Amino acid sequence: MKDPVSYFARRYIAGETREDAVRVAGELNENGISATIDNLGENVRDTIEAMNGLDEYRALLRAINEAGVDSTISLKLTHLGLDQSQPLAIKNVSAILKKAAKYKSFVRVDMESSAYTGAAIECVIELHKEHPNVGIAVQSYLLRSKADIERLIEEGVSVRLVKGAYKEPPDIAFAEKTRVDENYSTLMKELLLHGNNPAFATHDEALIAEAKTFAKENNIAKDAFEFQMLLGVRRKAQLQLAEEGYRIRVYVPYGKEWMAYIMRRFKERKENVWFFIKNIFE
Ligand code: FDA
Repeated sequence: MKDPVSYFARRYIAGETREDAVRVAGELNENGISATIDNLGENVRDTIEAMNGLDEYRALLRAINEAGVDSTISLKLTHLGLDQSQPLAIKNVSAILKKAAKYKSFVRVDMESSAYTGAAIECVIELHKEHPNVGIAVQSYLLRSKADIERLIEEGVSVRLVKGAYKEPPDIAFAEKTRVDENYSTLMKELLLHGNNPAFATHDEALIAEAKTFAKENNIAKDAFEFQMLLGVRRKAQLQLAEEGYRIRVYVPYGKEWMAYIMRRFKERKENVWFFIKNIFE
């Protein structure tokens, strides 16, 4: 019997080292696909672990630059000290943004559970005043996201729109999938019309088709926005978008701390349960 968890993880994760991630980003680039590399890690326990996160991201930016691959980076604020203090997270991300600017690179702050939404938005708006190369993810399942997006548009901060991957209570999040999708569509159109280089991170065929049609009807150029997908999910659709001349970026995670990430992917799709069971006995 194989180790089922690590077998499942290999589909979604580049490997354990930054070299693995840079190699996978290069392979995507060969097919006209950009990357955003994420060093897996969240909710570090102390400032030393947060410093380790900072060091790894600096080394990652250097490795991306040396290899000449087309890749930005993605990070989580709790990987860089947000649980310890907001000023610590801002200080660490600010150092990463300086390094990224040196390489003309861009940093996307992932959105974590609702316990961090307000702090993440405040941190990124503050950071953006000095570092225009920072953007943030916003989740369409949260009731507050419409107001957050209006504010981020006003501040000129680039938004990655996602549906949301955490379990949230019904008083702050839409419980039905149709409402999450409807809100995604509304926020997507708002970002297409008024956003700064928005990214639509979804594998949902209907929403992707809607973005294409809406952009065409409103004379929005193909290079004014981008689609994003996760490594290991809908690979053919990724290639097709590139062939059609759309910008497409794939999220490439790496590192040893993959369990929380994999559990979120696992919950997203019932078929993954079968994939998992089948591979235990293969
Ligand atoms: P939906 O869940 O409706 O899926 C549409 C179709 O896509 C499914 O029917 C299936 O075919 C396929 N699919 C989706 N997920 C799959 C999976 N895991 N395995 C196999 N097939 C799958 N979330 C968050 O809370 N904070 C964040 O910062 C980010 N960042 C992020 C970056 C990028 C680049 C992406 C693509 C996604 C995120 N997410 C995220 C995750 C996001 O919130 C969401 O959980 C997943 O993208 C799944 O939702 P979809 O929009 O794909 O739609």
